[in-house]
Amino acid sequence: MKVAMIGCGKLGLPCAEVMSQHYDVVGYDVVKDPTAQIKLLDTIKDAVTGRDLIFVAVPTPHDPKYGGGKPIADLPPKDFDYSIVQQVLTEINQHVDQTQLVVLISTVLPGTVRLRLQPCITNARFIYNPYLIAMGSVKWDMVNPECLIVGTEDGSATGDAKLLIDFYKPIMENNPRTNIGTWDEAECIKVFYNTFISAKIGLVNMIQDVAEKNGNIDVDVVTDALKAATQRITGPRYLTAGMGDAGACHPRDNIALRFLAERLELGYDLFQTIMYSRDQQAKNMALKLVSLAKEHNLPVVIHGRAYKPYVEYTIGSYSELVGHFVEQAGVSLTYVDPLTGDTDVIDTPAVILMAHNARITYEGTGVDGSQQGWYFEPVAGSVIVDPWRTTPDIIGMTVIHYGNTRLK
Ligand SMILES: NC(=O)c1ccc[n+]([C@@H]2O[C@H](COP(=O)([O-])OP(=O)(O)OC[C@H]3O[C@@H](n4cnc5c(N)ncnc54)[C@H](O)[C@@H]3O)[C@@H](O)[C@H]2O)c1
Repeated sequence: MKVAMIGCGKLGLPCAEVMSQHYDVVGYDVVKDPTAQIKLLDTIKDAVTGRDLIFVAVPTPHDPKYGGGKPIADLPPKDFDYSIVQQVLTEINQHVDQTQLVVLISTVLPGTVRLRLQPCITNARFIYNPYLIAMGSVKWDMVNPECLIVGTEDGSATGDAKLLIDFYKPIMENNPRTNIGTWDEAECIKVFYNTFISAKIGLVNMIQDVAEKNGNIDVDVVTDALKAATQRITGPRYLTAGMGDAGACHPRDNIALRFLAERLELGYDLFQTIMYSRDQQAKNMALKLVSLAKEHNLPVVIHGRAYKPYVEYTIGSYSELVGHFVEQAGVSLTYVDPLTGDTDVIDTPAVILMAHNARITYEGTGVDGSQQGWYFEPVAGSVIVDPWRTTPDIIGMTVIHYGNTRLK
């Protein structure tokens, strides 16, 4: 394989040097690093000519004000600057053909590749391949990545995705898993990976603040307990999107922590944002039901009123929160849940929200969630909205997997 790296900076150069241990690699950068251990050419044309794979790791800078070394929370939200990537891709496009694969590494927000970047490459093939790499350990991270992220137009493991994965095989030391998705999904994996880390750090540092202000707390005793909580905290549970957090404890615990943050004068209210998001996520789901109800002239039925399946409790029920917003929009609403006494017979078509999913809720708990069936027999012509995305297609009905907007 003949490889080019365009943009040989903090990420591109060490990665190109690692690749050069296995492949013929050249690079191009507007600034030539004299210590580079690969050949740096004078123009993009020279660098890409005759190359099978052309990696692009040029900057997607932010306004210097947004660096994070000074307060940034009150600055207006702002996208990265894509002008360098666009300019570089446009120039690469002038010197390539369909035998060549352009692989963009630079970090971009979801939707950017499809709308703004891939259209710059009309003459060659294109893949988005962001890296999960940190400064200080670039070369080690490169060969021991958490995963390989490969974005293609429709998310299929096309020949190009396979070609790229095969390219990495001799380089990688840890035989990483591969996550192949659409360009947009690959963009999401990258930015939510990073911001998930920010959220985790924000949370554990809040415990540090509580320790400082409350007294009698060693933050490590608390975080060590959470680190060891592999059932619910550090494992894969609660990483399936669906209905929101619910029950007698969680919402009110969040509100109580808001009170604690105020009493201890922490100076911020992390859980206000989390509870506000919960409210708005329920509203967004309700508005989807409302729009389907209006489109099809059907009432709304929420399948599952208790805060989770197999219990009769409705306290802190996310179903009821969604229902609140449905009713606020003036649409007829019925709950069906045998355990809460909501046993109305639904004998007309409806927009049905599949709020309960025992299999996902009880996964890993020793409770068999696979036995939950329908609480009533849906009528032909119904529109089923499944936020857990497990309901199969049903003849005579429309099944919508809420949260999956991939084109089928
Ligand atoms: N540094 C990391 O750990 C890391 C990790 C993952 C992703 N990323 C992403 O990778 C991209 C590059 O990051 P970086 O840290 O290497 O940035 P960087 O600024 O260190 O390197 C970018 C390089 O591109 C060069 N460049 C600028 N304009 C150019 C042009 N028109 N033509 C050719 N080269 C040009 C610069 O001279 C520089 O050497 C960014 O989108 C970043 O978000 C970085």
